[in-house]
Amino acid sequence: MTLRTLDSLGSLEGKRVIVRCDLNVPLRDGVITDDGRVRASLPTLNALINAGARVVVCSHLGRPDGAPDPQYSLEPVAQRLSELLGKPVAFARDTVGESAREAVAALEDGDVVVLENLRFNAGETAKDDQTRRAFAGELAAHGDAFVSDGFGVVHRKQASVYELAEILPSAAGLLIAAELDVLDRLTENPERPYTVVLGGSKVSDKLGVISHLLPRVDRLLVGGGMLFTFLAAEGHAVASSLLEKDQLDTVRGYIAEAKERGVELVLPTDIVVASAFAADAEHEVVSAEAIEQTSFGASGIGLDIGPETAARFADAIRGSKTVFWNGPMGVFEFPAFAAGTKAVAGALTEVDGLGVVGGGDSAAAVRQLGFGDDEFGHISTGGGASLKFLEGKKLPGLEVLGWQ
Ligand code: 3PG
Repeated sequence: MTLRTLDSLGSLEGKRVIVRCDLNVPLRDGVITDDGRVRASLPTLNALINAGARVVVCSHLGRPDGAPDPQYSLEPVAQRLSELLGKPVAFARDTVGESAREAVAALEDGDVVVLENLRFNAGETAKDDQTRRAFAGELAAHGDAFVSDGFGVVHRKQASVYELAEILPSAAGLLIAAELDVLDRLTENPERPYTVVLGGSKVSDKLGVISHLLPRVDRLLVGGGMLFTFLAAEGHAVASSLLEKDQLDTVRGYIAEAKERGVELVLPTDIVVASAFAADAEHEVVSAEAIEQTSFGASGIGLDIGPETAARFADAIRGSKTVFWNGPMGVFEFPAFAAGTKAVAGALTEVDGLGVVGGGDSAAAVRQLGFGDDEFGHISTGGGASLKFLEGKKLPGLEVLGWQ
């Protein structure tokens, strides 16, 4: 079965349509630092507004503990949405309480309300099916139909992602459809050479995706904190850099498998090593085999790939027809350690084919480093969700919409 699309819901004029978005944006002191996910929700919301629906937007923000917590309020997001839509957006101070009921009842055709954070309600993420279903039932009272468009949460079996879609007539929104279109191109006959670039701090987060992709890719480039577990697996000392000792054997297995399959596994040959984990830390560039031989000795910490590696990675990326990148190459939040991530992002904008930024930290990185969204083939809104998809896992939030 294929995904049920918006058309399957018939005419939506005058109908109350609940839309599950992923508006989980980064906030600093109540100010949104990256509104990419709010922008990504616009096509579906505009389509519903233009169809004359009464639009009830719901989302989570952060991981509050099933009770209201002002630092995770969606109010600043509702304001941003109003600016981007160019029209007033109402805000309900709860999700299924009086404020939400009144705000929904006051909607006219084409109006929009944002409900307060779904995760202020324990039922949203409850482990127990019955509790989630009961909360989904309360949510369902706000709508005549449900549109699921929070791609970043389709790997979660949560009330607003799964049970709500079972209770109301439901379909996928335009963002989910667009994300799947791109992810399909990465899994079904990708144009070759096909290169995957993995970074980020932990190997353990990427095990599933590495083992699923090794039989499918031509090149695997490894950077970020996880590279040190690869270097250690090859017998190099990594000083005080991030290291997951319990993953060494698994990583050795991947190195052997890559060789057997003829996959080019590209590991860094030089590293930027710092005296401490700090923006203004002293730092030196050394060969990947000599990480302990800087003036910081065994206390040195690798915080970025070196310039030689960045140039090799960039060449490999530019020479590919399909590239998927997930995870920064270094601590890009500190300008002194952002060069590796910047080089990878820059090369991705030059791919003559499909270059995909795989959500989460990588999406935040490209925007923070000054790249425009339109410079890439696609920037996914789902970090965890896109990785789970590429692991070949079944995603509950898609299965419930007919996807197989
Ligand atoms: C994300 O940021 O990846 C999504 O919004 C999902 O958030 P979660 O990991 O808290 O479920």
